[in-house]
Amino acid sequence: MPKRIAIIGAGPSGLAQLRAFQSAKQNGEDIPEIVCFEKQSDWGGLWNYTWRTGVDQYGEPVHGSMYRYLWSNGPKEGLEFADYSFEEHFGKQIASYPPRAVLFDYIQGRVEKAGVRDWIRFETAVRRVEFEDGKFSVTVKDLPADNEYTEVFDHVICASGHFSTPNVPEFPGFESFKGRVLHAHDFRDALEFKDQDILIVGTSYSAEDIGSQCWKYGAKSITVSHRTAAMGYDWPDSWSEVPLLTHVDGKTAHFKDGTSRDVDAVILCTGYQHHFPFMAEELRLKTANRLATADLYKGVAWVHNPALFYLGMQDQWFTFNMFDAQAWWVRDAIMSKIAMPSKDEMDADVADRVAREDAGEDDYDAIWYQGDYIKELIAETDYPSFDVEGACQAFKAWKGHKKKGIMTFRDNCYASVMTGSMAPIHHTPWVDALDDSLEVYLQN
Ligand SMILES: Cc1cc2nc3c(=O)[nH]c(=O)nc-3n(C[C@H](O)[C@H](O)[C@H](O)COP(=O)(O)OP(=O)(O)OC[C@H]3O[C@@H](n4cnc5c(N)ncnc54)[C@H](O)[C@@H]3O)c2cc1C
Ligand SMILES: NC(=O)c1ccc[n+]([C@@H]2O[C@H](COP(=O)([O-])OP(=O)(O)OC[C@H]3O[C@@H](n4cnc5c(N)ncnc54)[C@H](OP(=O)(O)O)[C@@H]3O)[C@@H](O)[C@H]2O)c1
Repeated sequence: MPKRIAIIGAGPSGLAQLRAFQSAKQNGEDIPEIVCFEKQSDWGGLWNYTWRTGVDQYGEPVHGSMYRYLWSNGPKEGLEFADYSFEEHFGKQIASYPPRAVLFDYIQGRVEKAGVRDWIRFETAVRRVEFEDGKFSVTVKDLPADNEYTEVFDHVICASGHFSTPNVPEFPGFESFKGRVLHAHDFRDALEFKDQDILIVGTSYSAEDIGSQCWKYGAKSITVSHRTAAMGYDWPDSWSEVPLLTHVDGKTAHFKDGTSRDVDAVILCTGYQHHFPFMAEELRLKTANRLATADLYKGVAWVHNPALFYLGMQDQWFTFNMFDAQAWWVRDAIMSKIAMPSKDEMDADVADRVAREDAGEDDYDAIWYQGDYIKELIAETDYPSFDVEGACQAFKAWKGHKKKGIMTFRDNCYASVMTGSMAPIHHTPWVDALDDSLEVYLQN
């Protein structure tokens, strides 16, 4: 009997896993039976845009956290698949910061070519994963049929993402605030905030990007409130950075330094939780959003039961090609091409990763730390080797471009580390590019 493998989620990580198994099959290897459960009606994970917020038509929490007009926040040269270049997909080299629809098309192109759609059961939400007598029982709900059923698997690979369940702090006065309070997870269209004074809480990517979007699409002012430190970019005139919000009173927001200002809306860009309500307690990953996750050997194998794997659970400088490196490694562990060490050795591996991350001093150390992790994994599999150092250099240049111009960094271009060709400069500067459709973006 071939092994049975359950994959939870058909976002970039789950799709990387499907492609990894399909590539072994293409090479003539006997692969296990694969079943991927995806609660949405299409693949692509966060890149599969939805207008919905709250709960979906079946009462399930909406997974999507992406919004209209979202462009890649890092250069595509850092995330390109080593086995499927942008040039292969689009038939030409394209500019470096594609909008969501363009990246969705690219992700989809590889798995369409691989022919793995039939391995996915769409609109099927995983409800419960348990481990008994050496096997996993996975209970799922076929959402349109309103029918729950259980199947048994030898391995489970959890690829359900960790930027979907919002972390929502409360500030005094929210209950009577005379405007809208929302988390970034529910933000969909910057035009909603045109001509408004916006308060953003948080200083990471969501804060920077949602603030920039609101500015680009006509918000009157953007105030960004920080808990730890201000972002410190050279912001446009209508921006300001203030200490942490203490409370709101009517429409007035008050900050730790005693200052205050009137705002129309508060957008909490306060991050996300690793949330796996379907996992039995002894299988459930509990980790901070960091590069060295808790309890995952090689960043993927659950040390307490290495028949279970988690993909893509790290904080992310690298994304798509890191998920690939992980997926190829997990495939080979499942197909017994990679031996799993003892529990003590796995624990030591996790401790070493944590210590090395903690020893890093800045973002550059973090970028190279994650680059080294990718190199380590791909050296153990047949994932096509690529110039990871070149990708780290692209991230370094990107950070420099952001410091130089936070509203112009997306106008830069980089060379592909897969094909060596230089991306063209995009036909329209990002600030003026209000139509981010695939058709318009590809008019280079
Ligand atoms: C707003 C935002 C913008 C981002 N922008 C970028 C960017 O510009 N560049 C970049 O490289 N990365 C970006 N990211 C990072 C993003 O995490 C990755 O690009 C990528 O989407 C992660 O893939 P994933 O498959 O691990 O998770 P996800 O994309 O979250 O996919 C997980 C999948 O699992 C499914 N699922 C979840 N729970 C269940 C369940 N119980 N049963 C069945 N299916 C389930 C979901 O429906 C989803 O399809 C962004 C993230 C956010 C939140
Ligand atoms: N393509 C794009 O442009 C784009 C856009 C948005 C998001 N993303 C991606 O989405 C992912 C998540 O990013 P994120 O910014 O949502 O989350 P994040 O990186 O985890 O950052 C969370 C932020 O919330 C702040 N915070 C948390 N709790 C708080 C509290 N109680 N009070 C005040 N501040 C609080 C943190 O502040 P401290 O620093 O004080 O901890 C931090 O600034 C990233 O991978 C990012 O790349 C990409």
